[in-house]
Amino acid sequence: MDARDLVRSVKVIGSARGIRTIRAAWRRHRTDAAGLPRPGAERARVPGLAEEAEPQPGGGVVRFARSSLRVRVAVGGAVFCGWDGAGPEPSYALAGSCPEADPRATLEPDTEGGWRVVSERVTVTVSRQGAVAVRTPGGVVLRRDLPPRWWEPAAADEAQVTPPRWTQRSEVAADARYFGLGGRAAGPRLRDGAYRLWNTDPGGAFGPDDDPLYLTMPVQLVVADAGTHLMFHDNTWDGVVTLREGVEGAGSGHDRPGGCQVRMAGGPLRYWVIAGTPARVLQSWAQLTGAPALPPRWALGYHHARWGFGTEDEVRRVAAGYVERGLPLSALHLDIDHYDGHRVFTVDRARFPDLPKLASDLADDGVRLVSIIDPGVKAEPGNPVYDSGVEADAFVRDARGREVRGEVWPGETAFPDFTDPQARKWWAGLYVERLEQGFAGVWHDMNEPVSFAAFGDPTLPLSARHALEGRGGDHREAHNVYGLTMARAGYEGLCELRPEQRPFLFSRSGWVGMQRYGGTWSGDVTTDWPGVRASLALVLGLGLCGVPYSGPDVGGFTGAPSAELYLRWLQLAAYLPLFRTHAAITAGRREPWEFGPEVLEHATAALRERQRLLPYFLTLAHLAQRTGAPYVRPMWWRWPQDRALRDCEDAFLLGDSLLVAPIFDPGVRRRMVRLPRGRWYDAATGRAHDGPGQAMLEAPLSRVPVLVRAGSVLPVADEQGETELEVWAPIAGRTGGGVLITDTGDGWEEPTVMHFTTRLRGNRVVVEREGPEDIKYVMRVRGDAVGLATP
Ligand code: GLC
Repeated sequence: MDARDLVRSVKVIGSARGIRTIRAAWRRHRTDAAGLPRPGAERARVPGLAEEAEPQPGGGVVRFARSSLRVRVAVGGAVFCGWDGAGPEPSYALAGSCPEADPRATLEPDTEGGWRVVSERVTVTVSRQGAVAVRTPGGVVLRRDLPPRWWEPAAADEAQVTPPRWTQRSEVAADARYFGLGGRAAGPRLRDGAYRLWNTDPGGAFGPDDDPLYLTMPVQLVVADAGTHLMFHDNTWDGVVTLREGVEGAGSGHDRPGGCQVRMAGGPLRYWVIAGTPARVLQSWAQLTGAPALPPRWALGYHHARWGFGTEDEVRRVAAGYVERGLPLSALHLDIDHYDGHRVFTVDRARFPDLPKLASDLADDGVRLVSIIDPGVKAEPGNPVYDSGVEADAFVRDARGREVRGEVWPGETAFPDFTDPQARKWWAGLYVERLEQGFAGVWHDMNEPVSFAAFGDPTLPLSARHALEGRGGDHREAHNVYGLTMARAGYEGLCELRPEQRPFLFSRSGWVGMQRYGGTWSGDVTTDWPGVRASLALVLGLGLCGVPYSGPDVGGFTGAPSAELYLRWLQLAAYLPLFRTHAAITAGRREPWEFGPEVLEHATAALRERQRLLPYFLTLAHLAQRTGAPYVRPMWWRWPQDRALRDCEDAFLLGDSLLVAPIFDPGVRRRMVRLPRGRWYDAATGRAHDGPGQAMLEAPLSRVPVLVRAGSVLPVADEQGETELEVWAPIAGRTGGGVLITDTGDGWEEPTVMHFTTRLRGNRVVVEREGPEDIKYVMRVRGDAVGLATP
């Protein structure tokens, strides 16, 4: 029991759930004592020397004395490396099947007995000892992976059931910065430290120091002067990534390279490397792991969630509060308190007597209902969901074939095995009940998965058996993809049950590829100023791992935020993809009118600004789906060579046009903002600032600084919701532009795409457009120009 366990068990003892969580923890412990192979003596192994190589499409296989390495460049430029015979499939990360090999990439002998694969985007060299270097076409090293090391059970019978664990150390340039690894509250820049790869509910609210959290991914995005690359270890097991940033001019004036060590408890040693500009890297990443699902348009508006609405009347009261004040509201989210005894796929009829009527009344005001869905099913015969799951043989079992039981909100629960296609099918069918209740979208929770435990890891026993698509295995391998496969089940269910609408789904846990099914959110972020910073870190980091749609619990999950904290959080989240307030049942209120008239006035402005930006958000959602580019991008996105931007964590880019500089501390009314190259207009004052450099900007309580890039064409909505274009004057002699992608909002039809180019003629802006001729938009010129000129 470590210190955290102790704190956790003290917190639960005495509570109603206390005894049960102690029992659950013991049960888990006993299950693993009987079901897990006991670790015995181990033998270390390294590849040894290269002996021969065999060219294959896209690269080839290099055979070493004690291992082999397959290098394969795929069409599109992603490089696959697999040791010990590992191939790219099967994989939970890949979208569909593995991309074709690039026939132009060939394996050839290199100097000193090594081998080399030359491709369009990178050259991969394999040394005689098994070190792998990835270079730019210009020959600069992006990363060097040293020969790996395995530890395998010495006893032959154990080696059959226990895969070797392994370690791989790498070097990157001294100036490189690390990002990614899924959702990390301490990010977006990942400083020196150990980051565990194990999806975890931190239990209670988390802050920047808590790691790991709900959604980990073995995906590093590395940005250096030499170039940007992404490294993905396709392995779902528990692991630790230890990062060390390099130091330039360390010691006697020599650079110390950055270092990284990946240590995995099992599973294949295989990885992908993608190099290029950040935009190209994310595009190839989306090709490899799947395009982000397009949320319905309403999901890009503002949402209000609450654990503890308690009754239908309270839901109506909150909705009416928005309507009366003319505040935009897209959705209300019902948490577990609307279930009957916390049982998933049920409704407490005493407190929510007529949900379909509630849903249709809210729909009249343009408000959708979203339902929480937890994976744990109350294990009680007579509960129809449980009975049907038993019938479908859908629940996770232990090594002896008994149903695994855990402890979650409803009490003793069974857990669907979402890695089993049959179980997914059964689960997918259950969503019909949610649709009949009138829900428009779903919110997956507790799917790390969580089973409350007074001590030890609050999840399923590691020895719990999983189908793993028929291959069979245990929770050590399935844990990290539990949320991902649940999302798949939910997404497929919604597509089948309501085929004319694109699903709205977001999930607390997940893994590489979850963007195919939906987005995510921060989880239970702590209600204090560091929580605001953590909120942005999570959104940025996840976006760089391919999951572009996310956002925090505005105001924090716990306690009662000060009026200023609440407001600054809301002002930040108005520019994040998922814009949602949410709080725990014990927390204070989160309605904008609960914090006094001044906050209400400024919150109204933030909510209206979000509404005004909806056409831009919809465009960004479509662009994310088409190009893999996240809506919310780090400051270095277009300028990865700018070292100051690489270290800038207190501002972000929203698409190509906007730069948002949130407020992270109390009492702040102006702040320095780092500017990338080019001209940036303060959206509020219209004042121009030229980058690169810094500018001091006003940040009164009424707003956070937002800058617009000169030359931008920004699609916005007027008061009636009609789209119009804000055209920001380009710099003389340069061109600018923008994109507008529109659709009808909910379905699958092809959207309309328009491209705009801008340039200055005299003191007027010329806008050239490409796209359907018959659609016209009002254009308003802003910035240093007097109006439009005809092309
Ligand atoms: C978890 C979720 C939170 C939810 C609560 C009750 O803590 O992260 O959002 O309100 O469970 O369902």
